[in-house]
Amino acid sequence: MRIDIITCLPELLHSPLQYSIMKRAQEKELVKIQVHQLRDYADGKHRQTDDYAFGGGAGMVMMPEPLYRCVEHLKQERSYDEIIYLSPDGNRLDQSMANRLSLKGNLMLICGHYKGIDQRIRDHLVSLEISIGDYVLSGGELAASVLTDAIVRLLPGVLNDETSALTDTFQDGLLAPPVYTRPAEFKGWFVPEVLLSGNEKSIEHWRMEQSLQKTKNLRPDLFAKWSQE
Ligand code: ADE
Repeated sequence: MRIDIITCLPELLHSPLQYSIMKRAQEKELVKIQVHQLRDYADGKHRQTDDYAFGGGAGMVMMPEPLYRCVEHLKQERSYDEIIYLSPDGNRLDQSMANRLSLKGNLMLICGHYKGIDQRIRDHLVSLEISIGDYVLSGGELAASVLTDAIVRLLPGVLNDETSALTDTFQDGLLAPPVYTRPAEFKGWFVPEVLLSGNEKSIEHWRMEQSLQKTKNLRPDLFAKWSQE
């Protein structure tokens, strides 16, 4: 898979993508993540990428020309399955969307700032708009990092058996059960007996029960959806 990310603040993306699982996925060449500086496609001494909004009002808008040039330049090199704009008014990211996107070959991510990007880029170049939640961030970079992480960890070979995504919360529509590690007793707090029993069937049963109970209590919306399926 290849992910191209367009931003005027590449530094904001560096650390989330350079450690742990994201680092390993790139080292194993399971994904190529390329960050592009939008200013390189802007004109003038100041390489301006934003301007005042037509019609007035507070906040700057990201100009269409640099974005258009950058997107078109990348499109000449390869074709993209999706050109994604990260925005609080996009489709809400969830696990099934991450699963779907992890099956694609080439993705382009556009990070906005200030009041957002000129609507014409959204209308004519963007194929999918994604929000990571109902709150407003200062820019799309953190959202792009979240989306990239959620996708890349699902690529075959990125996680090993121990970190398998199959047992993640949400992967089967339920919250994951509680987990424990050594010591079996800590400050008089005990690990549930069944987990020490070695009985795989009982452990599986206990985990399913816990998942169901936890989902019912904490996320009745998810539980209702799971029950209908
Ligand atoms: N940019 C600013 N806020 C955002 C959000 N909640 N999701 C995606 N992109 C954003």
